Amino acid sequence: MQLSVVILAAGQGKRMHSDLPKVLQPLAGKPLLAHVIETAQALNPANIYVVYGHGGAEVQAALESEAVDWVLQAEQMGTGHAVMQAIPLIPDDHQVLILYGDVPLIRATTLHALLAAGKDGLAVLSAKPADSAGYGRILRAVAADGAAGAVIGIVEHKDATPEQRRIPEINTGLMAMPAHRLRHWLTGLRNDNAQQEYYLTDIVAAAVLGGVPVRAVLTDNESEIQGVNDKLQLAQVEASLRALRARELLVAGATLSDPARVDVRGKVTLGRDVSIDINVIFIGEIVLGARVRIGPNCVLENASIGDDTVVHANSVIDQAVVGQACIVGPFARLRPGTVLGSAAHIGNFVEVKNSNLGAGSKANHLTYLGDADVGAGVNVGAGSVTCNYDGANKWRTTIEEGAFIGSGTMLVAPVVVGANATIGAGSTIATDAPADKLTLARAKQTTVEGWQRPTKQKRKT
Ligand code: UD1
Ligand code: MG
Repeated sequence: MQLSVVILAAGQGKRMHSDLPKVLQPLAGKPLLAHVIETAQALNPANIYVVYGHGGAEVQAALESEAVDWVLQAEQMGTGHAVMQAIPLIPDDHQVLILYGDVPLIRATTLHALLAAGKDGLAVLSAKPADSAGYGRILRAVAADGAAGAVIGIVEHKDATPEQRRIPEINTGLMAMPAHRLRHWLTGLRNDNAQQEYYLTDIVAAAVLGGVPVRAVLTDNESEIQGVNDKLQLAQVEASLRALRARELLVAGATLSDPARVDVRGKVTLGRDVSIDINVIFIGEIVLGARVRIGPNCVLENASIGDDTVVHANSVIDQAVVGQACIVGPFARLRPGTVLGSAAHIGNFVEVKNSNLGAGSKANHLTYLGDADVGAGVNVGAGSVTCNYDGANKWRTTIEEGAFIGSGTMLVAPVVVGANATIGAGSTIATDAPADKLTLARAKQTTVEGWQRPTKQKRKT
């Protein structure tokens, strides 16, 4: 049976107190709705319909790369009404899965179980959270022996009697059923309830009435059914996801100084015996080779770090490829387009952008290397700068292998420093420096004989 997924995302999210639509609020760096879409995609559906309303244009623009069909619900008249907007697009022989755009941590494994239970009849995902307030409650027939029996309905919290509110089993809102049955049930929905809404949950009673089996699939994973209605819940979901991702790193063999203080906002691929200190943030696609050590307070984004490399505290690495056995930081910044050869050293307060450094090259202190091609075995002294920008254009600097750049050197690009050249400290090099020679470009040092330091004059008062 082909699958059509319907994601309900038209709610306003008033309690966020934010100008950003609720489903675009970021969780681990990407919109809530994008998490749900990603999980839906893992089920290989024929279609994913996103029912949108508030902030429609903004939501579509933010998620335009997603392969989904957008369905407008101009006025929010309830979850049943939301599904009514999508059902005309879904063929009768499909199975339908209803997801919420603000329940981002739902797992594909749980959805597989829900789909299996909702092949011929109606399957609802239920849970028994510590606090059931606000949720719809699952009503079950009472068996002869007093045990809870078959599901017979769902009553919304606002419509429930005090006795019904004591029922611990709640409706998560996620459901699966055959499309032709859903189409039929939706035609019977009415809005004569406390909220004057068309409740999707009323299809349960309709199914029971029609003799169609209703099954509740109970999940004991509280975080996967957690909805996000305000910033407090957003922070709770963020914490759950952080814990989950940290756990994945641990299971994959990483050593974490504190699993609660590592943020994975993307995907990390690990070698063996990687260790990660506190307050490290990984964004996008990250590859860490074997025995890599990441110090505290580092931010890595779309970066690859070779085996045995050490990244010391407070370093920022963005779209860079770091070779094996390198030493980076503390306080280093590797910007997009940086490629470090093996055993390169980038020390404190060194910024590298769009540059290649050969094997074993070093820039250990207070240096800027931008648009530079640096050969192997080069030493760049403290406080050196590639002056790559003339105010209009960027130019490249080439430093050939084995060169030694004295401290405080300004290399005015475009310029080439030949192999094994030595540049005297404090030089401003604006024309090519030949290989194997010492090149100096600085004023000659003079000493003024008989000079006296001024003394403080007494002021007349
Ligand atoms: C719903 C369920 C309730 C369940 C709870 C779980 C119904 C009637 N009730 O209640 O049983 O325990 O979720 O959190 O279904 N939405 C639209 N259009 C609308 C209304 C809602 O797209 O007109 C979307 C919302 O954006 C949200 C989802 O549907 O993603 C749920 O809506 P919400 O208003 O939060 O439903 P609840 O009243 O919490
Ligand atoms: Mg809700």
